[in-house]
Amino acid sequence: MTPTTFRIKSFGCQMNVYDGERMAELLSEHGMAPASDGAEPDLVVLNTCHIREKAAEKAYSDVGRLRREDGSTPLVALAGCVAQAEGAEAHRRSGLIDIVVGPQAYHRLPEMVTAAAAGARPVDTAMPAISKFDALPARRRSGPAAFLTVQEGCDKFCTYCVVPYTRGAETSRPAADIVAEAHALVDGGAREITLLGQNVNAWADGALGLAGLVRALAKIDGLERIRFTTSHPADMDDELIAAFAEVPKLMPYLHLPVQSGSDSILKAMNRSHSVDSYLRTIDRARAARPDIAISGDFIVGFPGETEADFEATLSIVDAVRYAAAYSFKYSPRPGTPAATMESQIPASVMDHRLQRLQARLAEHSLAFNCACIGRDTSILVERSGRRPGQMIGKSPWLQSTFVETTAPIGTMLDVHVTEALPNSLGATALRQAEAA
Ligand code: SAH
Ligand code: SF4
Ligand code: F3S
Repeated sequence: MTPTTFRIKSFGCQMNVYDGERMAELLSEHGMAPASDGAEPDLVVLNTCHIREKAAEKAYSDVGRLRREDGSTPLVALAGCVAQAEGAEAHRRSGLIDIVVGPQAYHRLPEMVTAAAAGARPVDTAMPAISKFDALPARRRSGPAAFLTVQEGCDKFCTYCVVPYTRGAETSRPAADIVAEAHALVDGGAREITLLGQNVNAWADGALGLAGLVRALAKIDGLERIRFTTSHPADMDDELIAAFAEVPKLMPYLHLPVQSGSDSILKAMNRSHSVDSYLRTIDRARAARPDIAISGDFIVGFPGETEADFEATLSIVDAVRYAAAYSFKYSPRPGTPAATMESQIPASVMDHRLQRLQARLAEHSLAFNCACIGRDTSILVERSGRRPGQMIGKSPWLQSTFVETTAPIGTMLDVHVTEALPNSLGATALRQAEAA
């Protein structure tokens, strides 16, 4: 039976969220419709993440849960980075999986669905030279804050990381395609666009770098805010840093993962930056845009990490005073060099270090939020809150901000910050900013 309804569940990073939206648009273009809430979809796409063991294992336990009460199952497509990493092996691990489709092949999803409905078990984990983007339908509708993939893949090969294997080599989309997609998103309701790439600041189109792309996008009427993520510390050039000072639409937020505060661990991780070069980059960013919020990623318990190495990580946290951060226990990944390194760290040590790191990070993010009290700023209203009359939007520094207002979703609202919580702000509405 040919499926007519689908549901897509995306896990992992923002790029998977973006890919999930593009798959939904593609399936809709091919006559399928999203299943309504509570209804059983004919097709389930699990758009998976391979970055840590827990994330990857979750993919299979989620597949197991798709069996319906009467014993029947929907058509199941395993997409995303687990699909890329496992390929045909996924079929062997679970008889419930009908389709295996990698992140560079999902433009072929409709024909794979047709084949699977006829009893085949198609696998496509190719990384074709011709970009999937050319085969996808144009964007039509968008929420107020949209993602736009501009760069994919990674050539950095950090020794712990699967991304270079699951997403392939670094590639940049052409500037003209990106500008066209941004226009379509703005016409479809977007006021803010976050440019995505595994190493977004490695984006280039000929002589044009990411800073030039940001400047080009800033000319789009109706687009109020631009962000980009994730930047690599080794690729933060002066032009990009200058953009924070010179392009008002570029929001004062820089996600710049450091992973560790110890040079010997950074070297073992093959990070291609040092503690000192990283701190100098932060200084340059703050000189350009003094209020810039810095966020980071951290791994504790990388093989060989000593107590002194870990304390160096706490020191860099204090030096940078992160506004936000994501921290993880090291997870050995099959096929990566770090997985077979000696002196893997015991789980109990990792647990303890993670707790200490997170406590320190929480102090700094609360301090950053507290420093916002009393500021007048603007938020982009994105959704309604739990309390009646309450709306939630993002500040320029990416804090979720709660406000009582009748302003609808999509409004740029001027607010006065009155309250700081560990992960959010409270504010009162001033007046509605110019409706664009
Ligand atoms: N391209 C980005 C993000 C990569 S994945 C970068 O260069 O930073 C997001 C985060 O997951 C990484 O920054 C890292 O902190 C974490 N991560 C990646 N591999 C991991 C592993 N094997 N174990 C634990 N955390 C990992
Ligand atoms: Fe992974 Fe390193 Fe590439 Fe980031 S830069 S995606 S952590 S290999
Ligand atoms: Fe996960 Fe793949 Fe993103 S491994 S973090 S979904 S690039």
